[in-house]
Amino acid sequence: MSINYSEKIPNNVDLANDKTLQRALEHWQPRFLDWWREMGPNDFASADVYLRTAVGVDAQGWANYGTVKMPDYRWGIFLADRLPDRTIGFGDSFGQPVWQQVPGEFRSQFRRLIVTQGDTEPASVEQQRSLGHTCPSLYDLRNLFQINVEEGRHLWAMVYLLHAYFGRDGREEAEELLARHSGDVDKPRILGTFNEPISDWLSFLCFTYFTDRDGKFQLKSLAESSFDPLARTCRFMLTEEAHHMFVGETGLGRVVKRTLEVMKEIGSDDPEAIRRQGAVDLPLLQRYLNFWFSSSLDLFGSEVLSNAASTFANGIKGRPDETTQYQDHVCAEATRELDLPDGPGAVKKETVGLRNAMNEVLREAYVKDCEIGFKRWNMLIKRAGYGFELKLPSSRFRRAIGAWANVPTDLDGKIIGREEFEERLTDWTPNASDKAFVNSLMQRVVEPAKMASWIAPPERGINNLAVDYEYVRLG
Ligand SMILES: [Fe+2]
Ligand SMILES: [Fe+2]
Repeated sequence: MSINYSEKIPNNVDLANDKTLQRALEHWQPRFLDWWREMGPNDFASADVYLRTAVGVDAQGWANYGTVKMPDYRWGIFLADRLPDRTIGFGDSFGQPVWQQVPGEFRSQFRRLIVTQGDTEPASVEQQRSLGHTCPSLYDLRNLFQINVEEGRHLWAMVYLLHAYFGRDGREEAEELLARHSGDVDKPRILGTFNEPISDWLSFLCFTYFTDRDGKFQLKSLAESSFDPLARTCRFMLTEEAHHMFVGETGLGRVVKRTLEVMKEIGSDDPEAIRRQGAVDLPLLQRYLNFWFSSSLDLFGSEVLSNAASTFANGIKGRPDETTQYQDHVCAEATRELDLPDGPGAVKKETVGLRNAMNEVLREAYVKDCEIGFKRWNMLIKRAGYGFELKLPSSRFRRAIGAWANVPTDLDGKIIGREEFEERLTDWTPNASDKAFVNSLMQRVVEPAKMASWIAPPERGINNLAVDYEYVRLG
């Protein structure tokens, strides 16, 4: 079904024919807009921004670009088309028809998953709300705003499910999604990474590379869900999410490119000399990567968890690309070997049921996906004639959740003493002088043809426009 933009809430779910639901959502809509004004990038409310808006849910549906003021963006409810005869793709009910309603016995599990996913969406808008003031170019400013409006749209996606399928509880949860705030002492966001401040653009690029990619994997596994409206919602969200990771991957690539240009110009890889030219030295970049990667790994949860087993067994949440990547979709007998910490300094191998290790299966798929950008960036470095290599740290490093939580390890995952860990953490994650330097780079650049000193221009502009197109006209 095509998207109806003539209604107050654009949608492709035939909202006009469900008056109760329509009224409930129209009641929530002004609260959302209040939240956007209070917690979103409201200093830029009058800017004209070159944004894409979905007009359909297929690949061509993204062809619509135009100049919009952000508060006028048409947030709405878009689900991917229903697949005829879709059956349950994994777990104990494999092969049976999918559900159009939430089965009563799984209601609280579904609600928790939807609320947790929904909570991350407005959280990231809150985290990024001040970045517009220090944008490295109008091109980047436009990308930031595109991400912000789409994260707002993702909140709508989850709120629709809560309103449509969870009755009064769902409506209450929808209110709470606007009441928690990133970093708030009393009412923080649910997940740790979404309470970390993002006060500079290097952190923003790391966040879109690592944390939006966690989003991709969560959405991919929810897109497999037996609860069909959730699966369809997530399938469409994935098409929006792809742009966010594009911003992270190309953005970090442009940082590397600029650094290499400076290294060539000055004929040195001395971090101080590079910093004097207003560029980011590669060891500093590595520390930012270490921080955001390790923080994002926690989002997948504990390595061994009975709850992960039951969400899989019950058909609630599958594995990313369940159909194409795996042979055994039931996993009742399969096992998995894991490395777990075993007392001071020791590691043991433990065999657990595969269903219990589903969080780790997801995390591993995620880590593999994270490696792609590193290969590209390292190729740039190698071609420029330098031996430096950017690396993902071990997934044991600096964990706060799961079996490796609070186990001090080095970047390779070797267990070390607590004291050594604390001491070396300033070499491994951004230290005070790194942060001060990165902050000093955060100067706003808004002349159409210009880029900040620390980032190279992109290869091409948005939607075939020139790189120096005026993507944002500041009001
Ligand atoms: Fe999102
Ligand atoms: Fe995202």
